[in-house]
Amino acid sequence: MSSSTGRPQVIICKWSEQLVRSMLDLTPHVFVVLDEFDTTFMNPDQELLARAERVYRIKDFDSLEEMSAVATDLVLRGAAIDHIVSFTEFSQFGAGYLGVLLGLADDCMRHVSFRDKRLMKERVRRAGVPTADWITLADPSRADDVAAVRDRLTFPIVVKPVAGSGTIGALRVDKPEELEPVLAGIVPDPHLKSHQLTAEEFVPGREYHVDALWHDGRPLYLLVSTYYRPRLALLDPEAVPDPDGTPEDGSYLITEDDAPELYRRVTELHLEVNSALGITHGATHLEVFERPDGELVFSEIASRMAGGWIGAVISEYLGYEIHTAIARATVTGRIPEPRPSKPYLGALHLRPTQAGRITAIPTVEEMRAVDGVLRAQRLRGVGDSVERTNPSEWCAFVVLGADSREEYEALARRVAGELRTEVDPGA
Ligand SMILES: Nc1ncnc2c1ncn2[C@@H]1O[C@H](COP(=O)(O)OP(=O)(O)OP(=O)(O)O)[C@@H](O)[C@H]1O
Ligand SMILES: [Mg+2]
Repeated sequence: MSSSTGRPQVIICKWSEQLVRSMLDLTPHVFVVLDEFDTTFMNPDQELLARAERVYRIKDFDSLEEMSAVATDLVLRGAAIDHIVSFTEFSQFGAGYLGVLLGLADDCMRHVSFRDKRLMKERVRRAGVPTADWITLADPSRADDVAAVRDRLTFPIVVKPVAGSGTIGALRVDKPEELEPVLAGIVPDPHLKSHQLTAEEFVPGREYHVDALWHDGRPLYLLVSTYYRPRLALLDPEAVPDPDGTPEDGSYLITEDDAPELYRRVTELHLEVNSALGITHGATHLEVFERPDGELVFSEIASRMAGGWIGAVISEYLGYEIHTAIARATVTGRIPEPRPSKPYLGALHLRPTQAGRITAIPTVEEMRAVDGVLRAQRLRGVGDSVERTNPSEWCAFVVLGADSREEYEALARRVAGELRTEVDPGA
């Protein structure tokens, strides 16, 4: 630390008012990097940004040229950066590269292993953690690459972009003879830079997400949640709704008191993953399968806080905003004691059951008016379209809280039935 105040120098990648505010409360040495999306659509608070030591406005975090220019300017100013906090998938490669340029990384491929699912699985598997069998499908137009997938893997398999997100472009292929036509039909999402694919054996069972904040290798919090349905299963056109009205899209927190053994096993697996990938600090979002026989299988990890509704649920668990926790952990290594607003927490994504143009979607006030709804967020409005090509076309989130598991389940069923996003499928 070489700042004049003795307080750490921190770079924040991408715009989050709460994170910038929380960080500036703790250290004046905040550098903010905003991309074109932030400056065009997010309306960043200029007064708040004026308190930052410097703001860099770039087009794209994936531009080597722009990240190199940021690094050079910081070096010329004599900045000695202690931490880089990047909290979206879109800034992860750029933030990692910046860390390499500024000498914060002893392993130049580490940040790549947090994004490229192949390098990630290779490292995790080498450390002895169970993962799905997988093989790279670098060029799906090459017959030998495709033949290698058919020869090496047992179907069903999942084919997906090597550095995707939001389950966008992830496809299940049930039989070897279906592989070629499926690959031929892929139209890569325009946000994807690399069109390389990875192919993995399909892991059946339950899907957990584990959200943690680390300092010096120890978790400041570690929360195990389960998706109501595996994210990919939400796309299955043949899936039948649960007859008792259990929601499908969303997740809920499992309390440690209710599942101490699960917490023990997940924590053990997480620590192995951390040591394989060199994770010691910051927020993480891990996904783990539980096979029907109970075996836990690593799926993937992100070195950032989770997207979707999950940050809001964690904030309800903490009793204060997750961004405050991330800022506190970064600067002080500690967080205030969590004070959950309710012992049983979770969230639903209110997505229509078919594709079309939205004709009805609850307002934030309508969602908040329901007893047990702690937070609500609306991301689309009437007239917007939903294609149902991936499960991450966010419509509206409700965060729920209850005093018992039974009460929570009843609340979730009621909310899923009452608060609905409707579409006109013909429009
Ligand atoms: N090998 C697998 N076996 C079973 N399901 C899988 C497998 N790989 C992926 N999936 C399903 O596809 C979803 C998306 O895959 P993955 O998490 O690897 O990609 P992503 O697009 O980065 O996801 P995210 O939605 O977490 O950003 C998973 O949440 C899971 O439901
Ligand atoms: Mg995932």
